[in-house]
Amino acid sequence: MSRVLLCGSRGFIGRHIAAQLRAQGHEVLESHRLGIDFSRDLAPADWRPRLAGLDAVVNAVGVLRSSAARPMEAVHHRAPAALFEACAEQGLRRVIHISALGIEGSATEYARSKRAGDAVLLSLREQGRLDGCVLRPSIVFGRGGASSRMFMQLARLPLLVLPAAALRARVQPVAVQDLAQVCARLLAAHPPGPALLHAVGPRALTLAEFVAVLRRADGAGPARVLALPDWLSRASARAGDHLPMQPWCRETLALLQQDNVADAAPFQAWLERPPIAPEQLRELAWDSV
Ligand SMILES: NC(=O)c1ccc[n+]([C@@H]2O[C@H](COP(=O)([O-])OP(=O)(O)OC[C@H]3O[C@@H](n4cnc5c(N)ncnc54)[C@H](OP(=O)(O)O)[C@@H]3O)[C@@H](O)[C@H]2O)c1
Repeated sequence: MSRVLLCGSRGFIGRHIAAQLRAQGHEVLESHRLGIDFSRDLAPADWRPRLAGLDAVVNAVGVLRSSAARPMEAVHHRAPAALFEACAEQGLRRVIHISALGIEGSATEYARSKRAGDAVLLSLREQGRLDGCVLRPSIVFGRGGASSRMFMQLARLPLLVLPAAALRARVQPVAVQDLAQVCARLLAAHPPGPALLHAVGPRALTLAEFVAVLRRADGAGPARVLALPDWLSRASARAGDHLPMQPWCRETLALLQQDNVADAAPFQAWLERPPIAPEQLRELAWDSV
């Protein structure tokens, strides 16, 4: 049993990781109970007192859009950088960091800030100062996820209206339970796991195919697909920027326009069982926690 600091424990992915770690007998310290704030805790000194007596750290903190209260640069880069450096200084070697697939080569602030945070952990690992692992998931599916909710809502509509530029883009949805399980395995791995692991489901699907799979699970046929012209996609995403409680915004549009896929074999090897398939996501990933 280890004592694990879990940052972002109240989030969608964090809740599942917490449940998985506890089920395996680990003691989970939740970041919000320790007053941790990734908008303010930007120096290693902010983190040192919180790391005493810990065996590992998992970071599942993130934001989909920047705000004055939660600026992306701080949340995705500067706070994790300070946390990782403090871990290295204190010999707390085991650090798992939840990042995102599809950020390589993307110019969004989300991707740039995520890349910068990842780079700090990867560099500490390369220097031999940490056994850190960056986990980069494709779309994570399960109850309580904002993007999962969006896909479930799309799956209920007989007409699927998608940005034209997103029609050809492929995703590789991964069940949140599978992600949490691999995270727990990486935490306990001896020797340590890889520096970087893509967390993806077994199959790549276009967005329309993914929605059709979700519809089939409900007994419905594929929806009619309508391509939204680029100007209208941009306008609706700009409107979404002003509605912070839902996931549709310019960052989401930019991320959906590119492939979000990777070789599934390394993730499956860590899972040590067949992953939840797209056809099972509706049923299996949609219950519990
Ligand atoms: N869901 C997906 O499909 C998906 C796919 C790829 C990558 N990811 C990445 O996975 C990570 C977790 O995503 P999620 O879906 O679980 O998101 P989520 O449900 O929105 O959870 C985000 C967590 O981050 C915490 N947080 C945000 N800003 C913070 C701050 N300034 N200080 C402390 N905590 C802060 C939130 O705390 P509160 O509870 O206090 O709000 C929440 O616990 C993110 O980095 C995301 O980019 C997610």
